[in-house]
Amino acid sequence: MSAVDITAFPKDFAWGAATAAYQIEGGWNMDGRGPSIWDTFCHEGGRVFGDHTGDVACNSYQLWEEDLKCIQQLDLSHYRLSVSWSRILPDGTTNHINPKGVEYYNKVIDSLIASGVTPMITLWHMDLPQALQDCGGWCSAEIADTFESYASFCFKTFGDRVKLWITLNEPYVCAMLGYEDGIFAPGIKDPGLSVYVAGHNMLRAHAKAWHAYNTHFRPSQGGQVSLALNSDWAEPLTAKDAAATERYKEFTLDWFACPVFCTGDYPESMRSRIENRSLELGYKQGSRLPHFSKDEPSPLGTADFFAVNYYTSRKVKDLSENTELSFVGDQGAEGVIDPSWPICGVHWLAVYPEGLRKLLKYIKDTYTSVPIYITENGFSQMGPVQIEDVDRSQFYEDTLQQVGKAISQDGVNVKGYFAWSLLDNFEWNDGFNVRFGLFHVDFSSSELKRTLYRSVHQRTWRATWQTSHTGKAVHLKLCSL
Ligand code: GAL
Repeated sequence: MSAVDITAFPKDFAWGAATAAYQIEGGWNMDGRGPSIWDTFCHEGGRVFGDHTGDVACNSYQLWEEDLKCIQQLDLSHYRLSVSWSRILPDGTTNHINPKGVEYYNKVIDSLIASGVTPMITLWHMDLPQALQDCGGWCSAEIADTFESYASFCFKTFGDRVKLWITLNEPYVCAMLGYEDGIFAPGIKDPGLSVYVAGHNMLRAHAKAWHAYNTHFRPSQGGQVSLALNSDWAEPLTAKDAAATERYKEFTLDWFACPVFCTGDYPESMRSRIENRSLELGYKQGSRLPHFSKDEPSPLGTADFFAVNYYTSRKVKDLSENTELSFVGDQGAEGVIDPSWPICGVHWLAVYPEGLRKLLKYIKDTYTSVPIYITENGFSQMGPVQIEDVDRSQFYEDTLQQVGKAISQDGVNVKGYFAWSLLDNFEWNDGFNVRFGLFHVDFSSSELKRTLYRSVHQRTWRATWQTSHTGKAVHLKLCSL
């Protein structure tokens, strides 16, 4: 028996679940939607487990009411969803608007609000319009302006009702897996080069969108805008790996957080390390890490809250002898899994809920005291389905306990927690082989029936939310199944 101290959570705490358009919507070519890079990537074949695609996924494009029932069944206060950029702007630009796409999101937003659920909307969750990829994607400098126009269109169209915005989801993952390793769309493998250009343009795009909101929409709409940054918690493997651990943090969370929350530029040591290594490697064009131009809006201060996605932790070991041209070479550090942390489902997900508490404290101590939303956190299953998902149940219990301690003992201003994910969905290059849902989805039948997993039904998630929702100060003791 363990306890989640429910009194730690403020009364207005956001209890939510998250999804992303490509992972749940399906309807990939319906009603005028343009293709995204994930359509192309999946259709190429050989890229995704079992050649699965998001063509249908959970068919939330047509079964949206079913999702709403799930949200209501859990009594969630918030729901984080993303807009499919190419559903509303098929070629990515405002030259061509797809009214049916706009209608879909209006319906979703209106239904959420009518049900008393606050939407948090992500503008870009990995699914770049293919038409923009054809012009260079995130490696093209022009994309920052195109994103600003798209963001402004969304603020103008939905911002009368949507007050919580995430511009970009996990720039680190998208730059690393999409442009360095090539295992995510658009599948570019260009070690040590494109990753920094893509990341840089993502930050420029975010900053422009935030400034557009701040100037043109905030005065009348009064919402908040941020970007969702993912981070592992990192600790040294041995005492001699302390410097490597600092570098590991700099090259993950600080890479994006430092420009936005601290200095308006990349961490100084990241900058000098890449500069020196560029010289050493005989790279002629100067540093591979771009500079922010003084003629553009600064990224500094462009987040009204801190949005963090946390899944796992790493022990870090020094790799400073590595001389190859690559991101990991620049970082001079490598993360490994502590054998005492259980793996849940996917190989990279070592469960260490204490890491979330430590990360939250690190964010508070390093960056600012702006409110923090945990915009993703979850537990996966692989292989045969277990509706009786006892391990997941334990995971949520342990995790919420750590979040409660971060609030009550470490004084971290945590405003909300979004479980990943509301539904089992298309898990990127793992296809449907990995299940993160609070609801099971039966992908073997065309009805795609949603069924509440036992963990949610019986235990922590619902119990914690319901108790908190009533506002009563109760020390909730959770019983074993
Ligand atoms: C995150 C991503 C989500 C989801 C999750 C679980 O990196 O934002 O879309 O896939 O990982 O793997």
